[in-house]
Amino acid sequence: MKKIAIIVSSVQKNMELARKLETEAKEQGAQVEFINLVELALPMYTSVLEDEKGIPSEVHELTQRLIDCDSYIMVAPEYNGSLPPVLSNAIAWVSRTGDNFRAVFNQKFVALASHSGGGGAKLMESMRIMFVYLGANVLSREIINNYTKEYNPKTAKSVVEELLRY
Ligand SMILES: Cc1cc2nc3c(=O)[nH]c(=O)nc-3n(C[C@H](O)[C@H](O)[C@H](O)COP(=O)(O)O)c2cc1C
Repeated sequence: MKKIAIIVSSVQKNMELARKLETEAKEQGAQVEFINLVELALPMYTSVLEDEKGIPSEVHELTQRLIDCDSYIMVAPEYNGSLPPVLSNAIAWVSRTGDNFRAVFNQKFVALASHSGGGGAKLMESMRIMFVYLGANVLSREIINNYTKEYNPKTAKSVVEELLRY
């Protein structure tokens, strides 16, 4: 059975979206690893903190949970035309575990989803740049919702189908 990690970076509208995607993935027969980055509350990455205290155990656990999955769905809000800090911070830590900063994302398939205040296009661009840089294959189809554009079950269905195809 394919395992999809759903990684959520905000717990209001984005959590609602993430839960809908979880239901869709399960209906299509996937196993879901649900990761709430807000709840995880990782310390803010700095090279000074890493040098002084090393990689926190919860980061090693997060890295392993991700490695154990076949693909990922990133669910995040746009903040100031870019990534929310909780996501950027988590990826910074994960990229510091092990010998290869690309190890967790290399050759994995990643789908992008967001509930944002506006169009969310700049967030999508930012996430795409980061995950492609980390070696991932980012699906061209995106899930973008906002306060006037509701969840479209057909788009969600086809995004999950595409992830499960690989
Ligand atoms: C600090 C901050 C910056 C934001 N910047 C943007 C932005 O650049 N573009 C946008 O469309 N929405 C922006 N928003 C709105 C959020 O993306 C939107 O409210 C989203 O639904 C928040 O996620 P949540 O409902 O899961 O908490 C911003 C919100 C905050 C708190």
